[in-house]
Amino acid sequence: MAWTIPLSDLDYDVREEQAVQAVLASRWLTMGPQTAAFEHAFAAAHAGAHAVAVSSGTAALYLALRSLGVGPGHEVVLPSLTFVATAHAVLQCGAVPVLADVTSIESPLLDPADVARKITPATRALLPVHYGGALCDMPALRSLADAHGLVVVEDAAHAAGTPGVGELSDAACFSFYANKNLAIGEGGMVLTPHGEVAESCRRLRSHGRVVSSHDKALGNASNDDVSEVGVHARLTEMQAALGCVQLEKLPAGNARRRVLRRLYAQLLGHAVTIPLAGTEEHSACHLMVVVLPEGCDRERVRESLGADGIQTSVHYPPIHEFTAFSGDVCERAGTLPVTEELAPRLLTLPLHTRLTDAQVQRVTDRLLEALSEVTRPASSAT
Ligand SMILES: Cc1ncc(COP(=O)(O)O)c(C=O)c1O
Repeated sequence: MAWTIPLSDLDYDVREEQAVQAVLASRWLTMGPQTAAFEHAFAAAHAGAHAVAVSSGTAALYLALRSLGVGPGHEVVLPSLTFVATAHAVLQCGAVPVLADVTSIESPLLDPADVARKITPATRALLPVHYGGALCDMPALRSLADAHGLVVVEDAAHAAGTPGVGELSDAACFSFYANKNLAIGEGGMVLTPHGEVAESCRRLRSHGRVVSSHDKALGNASNDDVSEVGVHARLTEMQAALGCVQLEKLPAGNARRRVLRRLYAQLLGHAVTIPLAGTEEHSACHLMVVVLPEGCDRERVRESLGADGIQTSVHYPPIHEFTAFSGDVCERAGTLPVTEELAPRLLTLPLHTRLTDAQVQRVTDRLLEALSEVTRPASSAT
């Protein structure tokens, strides 16, 4: 379906084209100077000491967790309300994902009180998710982690450019998937204050090799040892070059997203609940999520908007409701009342830097109409 108002859109122009063409002309296509430049610029933009570019946000989470010692026999606490990749990264380490609740409908972020209840002697890490680009309560989570000797890894897939991201954790992991604020198709980054964690991620992303192919090509490395068993999670130079350009655009892009979210809030009034409203200044504003009124038929609302060419989505069907997690993981999660109340009512509206004010007006007009249609009693609909 060709949406007239898509959920997300690329902020690409001739600069991205030129950056990729320059890589092609250089004839070095993977992990070289562009990757190093992207890492350097990303760390500087986020006040992080070390940045390691990898092939996806999932790979970033896996490599960070593994480099921080998460493995078989460990538990990692994360919200159920996230993309399934957060839990997959824990499972890839051989550890067990322990799903916790979020704080409230207004603040659908990992609840430190439920995290505290889920900590056991096997817990090794906390894995908060900065839903929509707004930071979880990092001071509370850091204190909990310190009190129990745990590491903290931020799932910052939505949070490129969020003020303060990466400052209170052992690693923050970003995604540069095609719909993200910083989009390069596929890609991710580990940001960490620990030099040894960065070094471990660098080795593990390329099969545990101690030198890179680029160093070898330059004649800088004779030692070709593999010091541990790693994975293939390298970024290409084309993606890194796109990343450098997209990083330059990130502050203006995030600022535009903030303006658009505030406009949505103004136009929607009290017809829906807008989670994280008022936090825009402290957020990358990756998503425009609303919570529909209780009992509202979300699929009918989505169909109604879709018929007008407006794309919508749901962030997220919670992990504990997926078939693949219906056994132990679901049982261990227990009840997650806020997540369960939110799950059927969440609706994500279009948000991207090319969205115009007039398009926001059209989406909100259609949503308000759809809401009045679906809540109208059957008798008066004839
Ligand atoms: C919250 C969250 N975590 C992790 C990921 C995984 O990132 P990637 O798709 O780059 O592997 C995503 C991607 O959409 C995400 O939204």
